[in-house]
Amino acid sequence: MDGRDEVVALDREHLIHPQHFTADHTDPLVFVEGRGAVLRDADGREFLDGLACLWNVNVGHGRAELAEAAAEQMRQLAYATAYVGFTNPPAARLARRLVQLSYPNMSAVYFTTSGAESNESAFKIARYFWRRQGKPGKVKIISRVHAYHGVTLAALSATGIPAFQRMFTPLVPEFVHVPPSYPYRQTEDPVEALERAILREGPDTVAAFIAEPVIGSGGLIPPAPDYFPRVREVCDRYDVLLIADEIITGFGRTGKWFALDHWGVRPDLVAFAKGVTSAYLPLGGVLVSRQIHDAILDAPAAERFMHAATYSAHPTCCAVALRNLDILEREGLVERAARMGERLLAGLQTLRDLPVVGDVRGLGLMCGVELVEDRTTKAPALGLGARVLAEAKKRGLVTRIRVGQAGEHPIGDTVLLAPPLVVTEDQVDRIVAILRDSIAACL
Ligand SMILES: Cc1ncc(COP(=O)(O)O)c(C=O)c1O
Repeated sequence: MDGRDEVVALDREHLIHPQHFTADHTDPLVFVEGRGAVLRDADGREFLDGLACLWNVNVGHGRAELAEAAAEQMRQLAYATAYVGFTNPPAARLARRLVQLSYPNMSAVYFTTSGAESNESAFKIARYFWRRQGKPGKVKIISRVHAYHGVTLAALSATGIPAFQRMFTPLVPEFVHVPPSYPYRQTEDPVEALERAILREGPDTVAAFIAEPVIGSGGLIPPAPDYFPRVREVCDRYDVLLIADEIITGFGRTGKWFALDHWGVRPDLVAFAKGVTSAYLPLGGVLVSRQIHDAILDAPAAERFMHAATYSAHPTCCAVALRNLDILEREGLVERAARMGERLLAGLQTLRDLPVVGDVRGLGLMCGVELVEDRTTKAPALGLGARVLAEAKKRGLVTRIRVGQAGEHPIGDTVLLAPPLVVTEDQVDRIVAILRDSIAACL
């Protein structure tokens, strides 16, 4: 039994995967190495990393500098809590740096270790804020159909993809869904729908609206350009906090450090994770505005912010994040994402001559190709995406799809692309060429 077979056997016997079913994956890829935008498996085969693994390896694979940053910090201090009366240098420095990098109205950060935990914390901070304002009834969270906010119970309740929810209901109460801005399939004005939902629920019951600036796992859906400015107006009109879920879009992915900057909009809270460390270690967090920060700072003893997580502000994760931000800045990777994203989107647009390509969309290095059965009716292609992925894998490209759905909120299988920000021109062109051949092979 060579190393690879042993790994596969042990995996089959003992590893529960979040989303793959052992019976369907008798021959999983065993990745053992990565460099830049390329992954190598245990058999020595190379694959273009079409999704930066899970939209997170922003600075690319194989950065010894990040390993060194972690080792340096571990040698110095393994861990320190951020609980009552304690702090540590990398966490405090990172907090300051994130406040400076993000929106001008941001003031402070609470650190987590994942995206879902960041959203959970954002929901609690929103409730906390309103309670501190003397409005304890403002507890509901409005989110969107096709949204992905993670799968812990409250995050799952905000997520708008039924396939994740089906086996875990009932969901948490006080979560409400509205349609997103989805230009390819828009049937109603999504901002009016949001306003109607706030009025129907009662503005005095709504704490926050959460949205990904560009929907990621739910189908790679950038909004219409006027969507977020209008959302901001509606949120302001009814005293509803705007939570930007920038877990994918933060740290350069869309060609800006944070994505609501594309439309000049400032959120009240920003949930982040993934790209903050480029996935070298797990770290996430919530940035909060000055106003929310003040509500926490000024609280009387009986109303203090009581939250907890052992690994909040973990020094090693924060040290790696600081070095990751150095790399993003030093190498101009945010600007590079904008340039490479334009090239990728332009390349993908040429696939529109294939009869199953319904829509091609993107912002920065986040691009999607939605597959349909019929371009006139836009009937979603269901099942085709998995076949395209298999063909792409044979040709040396790995990525993921949004599995499509029919029904009230249809979407076709959508190929998702978000390579590391270090992806080269040549690799971008190869991604497009492989995708063309892979789709053509399924016709
Ligand atoms: C937009 C968004 N929010 C939240 C999450 C959840 O993050 P995590 O898997 O770290 O819990 C994800 C993960 O893909 C995401 O894309």
